[in-house]
Amino acid sequence: MEISYHPVCCFIFILLVVCIHSCCDGVVEAAEAASTSDQRRTYIVHVHSNSVMSHRQWHQSFLPVNSSQGLLFSYKHAMSGFAAMLTEEEVEALSKKDGFLHAHPSKDYKLHTTHSPNFLGLKRPPIEGSNNNIWRDTFSYGNGVIIGILDTGISSTHPSFDDSGMSPPPEKWKGSCEPPIICNNKIIGARSFIFNSSISSNASEISMDENGHGTHTASTAAGRFVDDASVLGSAKGTASGIAPNAHLAIYKVCEKSSCPTASILAGMDKAMEDGVDVISLSLGSLEESLYNDPVSIASFKAITKGIFVSASAGNRGPRLSTLGNTSPWIFTVGASTIDRKILAVVKLSNGNTFQGESAYQPTDFNSKSFFPLVYPESNTDIYSPYCENVTTLKTVGVERKIVLCNAGIVSREEAGSNVQKAGGVAMIWLPPSRYGFRTSANADVFPTSGVNYEDGYKILNQYYNNPNLTATIEFSGTQIGRDYPAPTVASFSSRGPSKVTPGFVKPDIIGPGVNILAAWPYPVGAFNVSPAFNIISGTSMSCPHLSGVAALLKSAHPEWSPASIKSAIITTSYWNNNDLNSIVDQFDRRPASFNVMGSGHVNPIKANNPGLVYDITEPNEKYYLPYLCGLGYSDMNVSIFTGKKSMCSDVKTTIDGVDLNYPSVVVALGKFNNYSRSFSRVVTNVAGLTNYYYYNLTVSPPHGVIVNIEPTSLEFTSNTGRQLRFTVSVSFDAKSRGYASPLEEYGYFAWISMDKQIIVTSPIIVTKEGNFYIG
Ligand SMILES: *[C@@H]1O[C@H](CO)[C@@H](O)[C@H](O)[C@H]1NC(C)=O
Ligand SMILES: *[C@@H]1O[C@H](CO)[C@@H](O)[C@H](O)[C@H]1NC(C)=O
Ligand SMILES: *[C@@H]1O[C@H](CO)[C@@H](O)[C@H](O)[C@H]1NC(C)=O
Ligand SMILES: *[C@@H]1O[C@H](CO)[C@@H](O)[C@H](O)[C@H]1NC(C)=O
Ligand SMILES: *[C@@H]1O[C@H](CO)[C@@H](O)[C@H](O)[C@H]1NC(C)=O
Ligand SMILES: *[C@@H]1O[C@H](CO)[C@@H](O)[C@H](O)[C@H]1NC(C)=O
Ligand SMILES: *[C@@H]1O[C@H](CO)[C@@H](O)[C@H](O)[C@H]1NC(C)=O
Ligand SMILES: *[C@@H]1O[C@H](CO)[C@@H](O)[C@H](O)[C@H]1NC(C)=O
Repeated sequence: MEISYHPVCCFIFILLVVCIHSCCDGVVEAAEAASTSDQRRTYIVHVHSNSVMSHRQWHQSFLPVNSSQGLLFSYKHAMSGFAAMLTEEEVEALSKKDGFLHAHPSKDYKLHTTHSPNFLGLKRPPIEGSNNNIWRDTFSYGNGVIIGILDTGISSTHPSFDDSGMSPPPEKWKGSCEPPIICNNKIIGARSFIFNSSISSNASEISMDENGHGTHTASTAAGRFVDDASVLGSAKGTASGIAPNAHLAIYKVCEKSSCPTASILAGMDKAMEDGVDVISLSLGSLEESLYNDPVSIASFKAITKGIFVSASAGNRGPRLSTLGNTSPWIFTVGASTIDRKILAVVKLSNGNTFQGESAYQPTDFNSKSFFPLVYPESNTDIYSPYCENVTTLKTVGVERKIVLCNAGIVSREEAGSNVQKAGGVAMIWLPPSRYGFRTSANADVFPTSGVNYEDGYKILNQYYNNPNLTATIEFSGTQIGRDYPAPTVASFSSRGPSKVTPGFVKPDIIGPGVNILAAWPYPVGAFNVSPAFNIISGTSMSCPHLSGVAALLKSAHPEWSPASIKSAIITTSYWNNNDLNSIVDQFDRRPASFNVMGSGHVNPIKANNPGLVYDITEPNEKYYLPYLCGLGYSDMNVSIFTGKKSMCSDVKTTIDGVDLNYPSVVVALGKFNNYSRSFSRVVTNVAGLTNYYYYNLTVSPPHGVIVNIEPTSLEFTSNTGRQLRFTVSVSFDAKSRGYASPLEEYGYFAWISMDKQIIVTSPIIVTKEGNFYIG
């Protein structure tokens, strides 16, 4: 899988996936720029809710009486308002009507396994019927839970969506399947919300997941067990999603790699109506004020129905503050690597070797013979090192040589195919610097080694110093284990801090998102194997892993709220890799800060027994509304969320992000608060009184900071009930010299059970006057 940050290079389906979350800015701007007054565009119109008429009638009343264009979508649950094709004059006119709040053009958001369940500690029993399999026995493989996937549709006939042995959907389920998809007990709903009439009239579009993204994400969350799954024979094993017995409801809201916000809202609206338990959104845009973010607005509504919303963080790493989907009511998922490599080792005649990767493992490649290397530079074609032109490659003379090709203009597949056409024997793919130490195992069409940036740089250097250098590639197949320290934080994974929602750590979590094998609608790469699987990367891939984990937890603990599930996953996450060293950033191999890895890496087994959770039981009006007011939003801005005339002045106390009962903490200290801040938290005991009623505190403050917590132990008795409150005071240590602190430093507090089996950990980041410096 190639990561590309330019839409132009997202040529082949595989490429789309990773850049999918990342190349939306240009699109949004372009869409907003192209407008003339008589042109119709899709607008999203926010209005007050109305209890007298049906929502459709009420929304219709805003449209011009004799308009040829009706409502595109009349939203009932996701927000108060509708989508329609309107001219600027019509928008102007309807904005004068009573009940109007705000109108804005629909934007385009971008779409952002054999082994990954095992890596998460989820192992299928070798023999059905054997004991002690928590995946099956506790989590029931996600039985009974409904995951809504908002994506590019689905290839429903893939064996990953076979329903044999599955129970029918729960009674509350209201969804259905649009022909030609026929619902079974796995896929219990399938609908398209692509509104372009030339497309939506053709219902068969929904089955046509032409992109592959939606099929991949759905099978990652809840694909069934499929034996002998592999891509081109690599990464062979039994493929399955994280919650193989969960039901899937498919909402097609993206066409190609583009997801109109009007469609996303319509998909979420229907998902809420149908009765899903989890919404999985592998799409987004760079964060902006929450009232301008339809995903934030609709998710705000979804949590009131007890729906867990998990969304990808974005693929704009390694730069900081590149997140999307950062609302406190959304679970924001970054991407990590797993301990699997599909090796294509570059060997140079000077004895140096470099571990590259490729999912294409040709058996007829002679790795005993060494071939001359060539970096195709041409005076007449400045793009020649990108292997973008067969004619140039021929002119340069690549025949019988191993060709070094730069990423950046054409896809890896296209470059490989060009080299092949020009007579080369193999390709070494040189990624850009932002890859850092990342390698990718693509379904290549031609013998290829995808090395990391550092290694590519070294190979090029040695080639320049020794024109006689020869090379070969050894295809050593799939390797799993501790030789490959994992997890690391994917170099592309978007990082915090959030610029719009301070107060808690974002991303919330990291989970597998690099070189993930999952179902694909059609064969890929050089071989025509069926059923088809593909290996791709992105936070688009990590998000459905976490949606699956949420489904497992929901299946084991149907009574847990979305906030409890989130808390359980966060407080039990871990910070060390399989080598027992700190999880590092794949970009620079330095220990990953909380801004990079979020609160930690998901551990589903531990999340099942979190001991204490930071739950939220207050209604939005009393809780998140004061928070929105605390962000400095206007009355109009908060009305967008409530559909009512809402006044921040009515809300007695505003809440800062740090005052939310969040399981992670970001505190800003400055002159404005005398370099000190106190806040409280409430924990709910979900382990019961028998074994886990007593917790002792441990605190590890960030450097130069004092953290005081009262009380220092929690004892749950029948008198105290299940909930206890504690207070946290954070201040700068006057005795400490300066505030500078190594980025690697982890501050945290944790509640530890008497038998030390349960550790409820909350990471702390302290910032000075809003500048993030510790974490
Ligand atoms: C709308 O259509 C009706 C019936 O076709 C017509 O009588 C009326 O004048 C039209 N109104 C406007 C504002 O064009
Ligand atoms: C609808 O789809 C057609 C064909 O793909 C395209 O030409 C047209 O611009 C689309 N219209 C809108 C409103 O997106
Ligand atoms: C729907 O699309 C398919 C494939 O693109 C086409 O064969 C079929 O005729 C279309 N059906 C309708 C009703 O437009
Ligand atoms: C490749 O280069 C040749 C010679 O410069 C040029 O004629 C041709 O158009 C190029 N092909 C492509 C696909 O750019
Ligand atoms: C490369 O090979 C040529 C011919 O065998 C030889 O003359 C030359 O010294 C070699 N260069 C290096 C840097 O080894
Ligand atoms: C948010 O509030 C600001 C200030 O009142 C206003 O300019 C802006 O239009 C509002 N946006 C929305 C979507 O409510
Ligand atoms: C900060 O500390 C000073 C001196 O102790 C005190 O006078 C002032 O009221 C404090 N300000 C705040 C915001 O607590
Ligand atoms: C908790 O801390 C108290 C005070 O330090 C200590 O006496 C007690 O043994 C601790 N309990 C456990 C279970 O560690």
